[in-house]
Amino acid sequence: MPEPTTERLPFEFMLSPEFGRDPYTEYGRLRERGPVHAIDFPRGVTAFVVIDHEHGRQALTDPRLAKGLGHAPGFFQDAVVRGNPALARNMLNSDPPDHTRLRRLVAGAFTARRTASLAPRIQEITDRLVDTMEAAGEADLLDDFAFPLPITVICELLGVPSADRADFREWSASLITPAFTEEAARQRDAVNAAVRAYFAGLIDERRRAPRDDMISALVTARDEEGLLSEQELLATLTLLLIAGHETTVNLIGNGMLALLTHPAQLGLLRERPELLPGAIEEFLRYEGPVERATFRFATEDMEIAGVPVPKGGVVHVSLGAAGRDPAAFDDPDTLDVTRTGNHHLAFGHGIHFCLGAPLARLEARIAFETLLSRLPGIRLACPAEDVAWRLNGSLIRGLQALPVRF
Ligand code: HEM
Repeated sequence: MPEPTTERLPFEFMLSPEFGRDPYTEYGRLRERGPVHAIDFPRGVTAFVVIDHEHGRQALTDPRLAKGLGHAPGFFQDAVVRGNPALARNMLNSDPPDHTRLRRLVAGAFTARRTASLAPRIQEITDRLVDTMEAAGEADLLDDFAFPLPITVICELLGVPSADRADFREWSASLITPAFTEEAARQRDAVNAAVRAYFAGLIDERRRAPRDDMISALVTARDEEGLLSEQELLATLTLLLIAGHETTVNLIGNGMLALLTHPAQLGLLRERPELLPGAIEEFLRYEGPVERATFRFATEDMEIAGVPVPKGGVVHVSLGAAGRDPAAFDDPDTLDVTRTGNHHLAFGHGIHFCLGAPLARLEARIAFETLLSRLPGIRLACPAEDVAWRLNGSLIRGLQALPVRF
């Protein structure tokens, strides 16, 4: 193993367009110098990016690394949660016992069994979207399919009108992008106010007239059982809505781009549809949506792979880099839909392991199955190098658009 690196990377390196287009080449270069790299954040804060699988996996369960924002340096709190209580008090930003309490309140709705019962409805939504695309002969697979599918499903589950989904898309894009400038922070504050007002209205409606949906169930848990605060209720709904937006969308988009640019793999999947569940795990490893949005905060001075991490240090595990670690995967830069034993970290690891993983896997299976069987001629409508990644410094890896023809 190389000696721990002493080099510090400038904060901007992860915001550069080159990194946005292809983080893996840069990670490969960094990997030669060690598994953990210090990044100079503004205002004297140091962040550490963990890029290998072994230490990444360990960091995700290390009890010295907390998720609670109370452990975050002030600068980071400003950039991520300023004016952001709508998001701040959710399970993903909490440690036990709050985390356990908040996760338990909604976990029952996301088990593999409960999720499986949604399959017929997911198929129905998928078929309707494919009907429209097929009739047009061409589509932006992101706008016309990958986005509306999971958002419609999560809206129905929560009890949020999916007609408002254009607003949610704008809001969630804003909420997942750290606001490092005053202007960005002001814009984000405005989005927060809008999100708070929107959910407060829906919560009020359900208080007056409960329905058979998750908002009503959470309102009951709050009002009759006192199991969560009003802010936690708001934060849980916001988290679930965002998680339903920015992740599965990009599993479908990134996975489809990977297939369309690897025709032999696409052919193999068409010939052997039983490979699909494994192929979805491979898309998650090869081009997972949650590239490095996995912040944790050191609650004491510690070391990761020999690199000193001081108390208050921000640690983010790059799940995307872990998926390309040659120590963990053979030929990590090769897309291989027949890969087995795919122990990627794309859904995280430990107590914060993705609550929606069964839902995301089910949506992806139905989406790819339907796209491949009903649109046999699907192909890119532009040269592969013109397909653009989102380059706004977001911690999520996804495309701006995916133009296709059938
Ligand atoms: C947590 C990825 C879809 C709900 C996480 C984490 C990751 C992740 C990496 C852990 C972050 C960390 O430890 O810091 C993904 C990916 C998805 C996906 C790649 C799609 C392909 C979904 C969906 C939902 C969801 C559809 C629900 C509607 C959640 C929730 C948490 C979470 C609630 C927080 C769990 C906790 O803190 O205990 N997800 N997610 N995710 N995800 Fe997902």
